[in-house]
Amino acid sequence: MNVVVEGDTLQVLKGFDDNLVDLVMTSPPYNKKRVKGGLVKEVKYKEVTDNLPEKEYQKIQSDVLNECYRVTKPGGSFFYNHKMRWVNGFMIHPVEWLRRTNWILRQEIVWNRKIAGNIRGWRFWSIDERIYWLYKPVGKKTTGEELLSKHAKMTSVWDDIRPENNNPHPAPFPIQIPARIIHSILDENDGIVLDPYSGSGTTLIAAKILGKDYIGIELVKEFIEQSNERLYNYKDFVKDVETEVGKHIVIKSYKQRKKEKLEKDKVSTFFKVEPRSIIKKG
Ligand SMILES: C[S@@+](CC[C@H](N)C(=O)[O-])C[C@H]1O[C@@H](n2cnc3c(N)ncnc32)[C@H](O)[C@@H]1O
Repeated sequence: MNVVVEGDTLQVLKGFDDNLVDLVMTSPPYNKKRVKGGLVKEVKYKEVTDNLPEKEYQKIQSDVLNECYRVTKPGGSFFYNHKMRWVNGFMIHPVEWLRRTNWILRQEIVWNRKIAGNIRGWRFWSIDERIYWLYKPVGKKTTGEELLSKHAKMTSVWDDIRPENNNPHPAPFPIQIPARIIHSILDENDGIVLDPYSGSGTTLIAAKILGKDYIGIELVKEFIEQSNERLYNYKDFVKDVETEVGKHIVIKSYKQRKKEKLEKDKVSTFFKVEPRSIIKKG
C-alpha cells in the first residue's frame, strides 16, 4: 500500500486481489495519432507507444477497465478521464468501449478546460474533456449511494478547474480533479485509491493529503521517480487541495430546505384556512 508499482498496467492488475480498492481514477494514454507541425506540443510518454490501431487500443482499455472492476469493492467507483477524438473525420466517443465493460455508466461529467488541443477549423474548437463516473453495484442495487449535497452541488460541468501547466510530465491533470473526486466519493471515510496510469502521481498526492491510502501503476521509471519526489513534497499541494475542499460546503442541505419548505407551506395553509373559517363562523 502507498506505493507506485512499476510495470504494464494490465499485467500488474492481474496480480491484484479481488475487491481490494474503494475508488479508481485515471487518465489513460489517449491513443493520439502523431500530428506533426501543429501549434500544440506533441504528447510523448518516453518509450511508451500512444499510437496503436484503434481497435487494439479499445481492446486494451476494455481489458484494463474490467480488471479494475474486479479489483474494486462492490459499491466502489471508477472515474475515467478521456475525450472525443477524430480519425479521418470520424468522431470516436469513449462510451463506445465503456459500454462493452462490466461497469455501470453512472454519469458523464464535462470538464471545460477552456483550452483547445488543436486549433484548426475542421470543427468548432474542442475545449472540453470528459470524466466518466463508472459504478460497481452491490448485488442487484444498481443505483448506489447518494452523494452528500455539499459534493453533488459541484454539478456535471466542471469549468472552474484550469489545466496543469507547472509539471514536467507531458499530460498531467491538475490536482483539483482527483481532490474533488476523492473528497466527494470517500468524504471522511478511509479507503484505498488506485490510479492504474499514475504518471507523475497527481491522484496519489491528492489521496495522501486527504488521508487515504493509494496505489499507482506506471510503466515509465522516470515518471515513477517524479511521482515519488512529488509525494515526498506533498505539502506543496496542500493549499490547492484545501481550496478545492473549501468549495464543498452547503449552508442548508436539500433535506433541510425541503423540511423548512414543508413547514412554511403548513404555516401558510394554516393562515389561509383560518381567517376564512373565522369569517364563516361570524
Ligand atoms: C495521461 S498520463 C497520466 C498522467 C497523470 N494523471 C498525472 O497527473 O501525472 C498516462 C500515463 O500512462 C502511462 N502509461 C502508458 N501506457 C502504460 C502502460 N501500458 N502501463 C502503465 N503505464 C502506462 C504513461 O507513461 C503516462 O505517464
